[in-house]
Amino acid sequence: MDIFVTGGAGFIGSNFLNLLVPRHPEHRFINVDTLTYAANLKNLVSIADRPNYLLERVDIADRSAVREVFARYSPQIVVHFAAESHVDRSIHAPDSFIETNITGTFNLLEAFRALPAGTGKLFHHVSTDEVYGSLGEKGLFTEQTAYDPSSPYSASKASSDHLVRAYHRTYGLPAKITNCSNNYGPYQFPEKLIPLIILNAAEQKPLPVYGQGSNVRDWLYVEDHCEAIWAVMEKGRLGHTYNVGGRNEKKNLDVVKTICSLVAREQGVAEQTLLDLIRFVPDRPGHDQRYAIDASKVIAECGWKPKRDFESGIRDTVRWYLQNASWVNDVRSGEYRQWIETNYAARQTQSTRETTGGTP
Ligand code: NAD
Ligand code: DAU
Repeated sequence: MDIFVTGGAGFIGSNFLNLLVPRHPEHRFINVDTLTYAANLKNLVSIADRPNYLLERVDIADRSAVREVFARYSPQIVVHFAAESHVDRSIHAPDSFIETNITGTFNLLEAFRALPAGTGKLFHHVSTDEVYGSLGEKGLFTEQTAYDPSSPYSASKASSDHLVRAYHRTYGLPAKITNCSNNYGPYQFPEKLIPLIILNAAEQKPLPVYGQGSNVRDWLYVEDHCEAIWAVMEKGRLGHTYNVGGRNEKKNLDVVKTICSLVAREQGVAEQTLLDLIRFVPDRPGHDQRYAIDASKVIAECGWKPKRDFESGIRDTVRWYLQNASWVNDVRSGEYRQWIETNYAARQTQSTRETTGGTP
């Protein structure tokens, strides 16, 4: 089959292609990606020359370009990763989130719907747990949790989920959705918490923690997410949503401290030297307090379960970033430096102590 993988040069998309292209020579994987700042073709060097892999540089927000690439391949399957994915960027400049995440998804759905009758077998939409908003101290997000997005990013992803579901109900479009918690692992753009803290700690730069670092995220190793998507594609029910997560709830501050300890060990420096770099900075507006996923449906129906525990996953992730200096240098372009300036220069340091908070 021909499988369109949108956003295949980004963090999760490239891990997905690296895992599945060699495993499934019977399918042709066509990476449909416009190559934004978050994309990197170096992520895909191990599969770039495989006969069952191709790249099509297409902006999914461009309706005619999407129509044209669908007409050229008539793909049976679409796995839709392409998105603007960073919450903080959506707060600074939401426009591209609306264009890519909402209009882009709409364009793909329309093109899929226009395929010759019987061609389109599956539209798999990759989404996020952020559509559900925030949890309090207790409880888990289930597939029945009401949508309550907090940021322009999560609102745009929620909109795209609603469109996918509506196309299934209205036009019978064969769709599935996965809503996953926070991923970590190789090839993640270092604007996100884990790679940012690893690289800053390695260079003994300040480690910015929003608010008091008490927000909780449910971390999943990226390959486990990719395996879950494939399991749902193979075994999930059409028209259904599956929540994906690893039951790995961690406070941000604890994640940062774990990274300090691992980087210190790898580099042979005193752990306290890195802990002293922690800076509590003004919080993200609308910051969701806690995410935690009930993944029992995907486990029961699709036979998936995560393979990596956080301890080994984060250790290997730290090593990957420390050992891949050329990848790191490559992505730290002018655009990266400009983003760091935009996001952190405006955030004055709040405190270097955990216990004091308040407005800067
Ligand atoms: P990413 O930002 O690393 O990569 C996004 C990719 O999409 C890039 O290759 C980029 O070039 C491409 N893209 C962006 N705009 C495009 C456009 N207009 N046309 C074509 N391609 C475009 O994102 P990621 O972290 O890999 O996330 C992938 C998907 O998974 C997203 O839909 C995101 O919402 C979802 N998700 C991410 C996480 C996470 O923790 N990162 C968790 C759950 C769900
Ligand atoms: O839950 C899934 C989502 O996870 C995905 O849909 C998003 O695409 C992905 O970016 C991620 O969103 P988060 O906002 O949770 O990830 P981020 O790495 O930006 O932040 C993780 C937590 O760390 C969050 O509580 C904010 C905090 N943080 C982040 C940065 C960048 C800091 O404390 N300091 C920082 O410098």
